[in-house]
Amino acid sequence: MLLHIPGLFDAEELTRIREALEQADWADGKITAGYQSAKAKHNLQLPEGHPLAKELGCALIDRLWKNPRFMSAALPHKVFPPLINCYREGGNFGFHIDNALRQPKGSPERVRTDLSSTLFLSDPDSYDGGELVIQDTYGVQQVKLAAGDLVLYPGTSLHKVNPVTRGARYAAFFWTQSLVRDDGQRTLLYEMDNAIQQLTTDVPEHPALLQLTGTYHNLLRRWAEV
Ligand code: NI
Repeated sequence: MLLHIPGLFDAEELTRIREALEQADWADGKITAGYQSAKAKHNLQLPEGHPLAKELGCALIDRLWKNPRFMSAALPHKVFPPLINCYREGGNFGFHIDNALRQPKGSPERVRTDLSSTLFLSDPDSYDGGELVIQDTYGVQQVKLAAGDLVLYPGTSLHKVNPVTRGARYAAFFWTQSLVRDDGQRTLLYEMDNAIQQLTTDVPEHPALLQLTGTYHNLLRRWAEV
């Protein structure tokens, strides 16, 4: 499932973020790439643990944890702290699948990359190219969102970033280990939760809601791994 979560940062915040990123010291994006994906990766990245990446990453995670749509769709267990990248002057990242496991710097725990997220930080009119292209079960999706919007997609997907031919494309990205590993099971739970929320608004007193909500939790209990 591909999910669009809009408006995580407002225009004023995004202007401040981009100003800070323009002043930052960037490193080669290959620093966090695996052996094979390093060959396809041509971009810039803030080093892991960079103060700006930490600050923006914490703010992003804080907002997502308060976002009912993200919580329902991702059912997050652990995250790999967000990284920040920049594509300009032909920068691109060819088709690849992300590494299955990631170990944050200085952490003893590994994160299984069930879900990938990209937060767009640049106005789409300010650069050409730079679409995130994701191949999922329904075919190829091209994603280029407004600044402040996020796309969530399965970590199992083949994906790439098209070359940026004008301007600069800033983005934050991170991985989530979900309580529910399987994308199909997670999607069923998300759809069921949406239906329950809708019924709770439309027919709040209906007695079947009690059973449906119970069934949601019993499925989650069956599938969740903690
Ligand atoms: Ni990737």
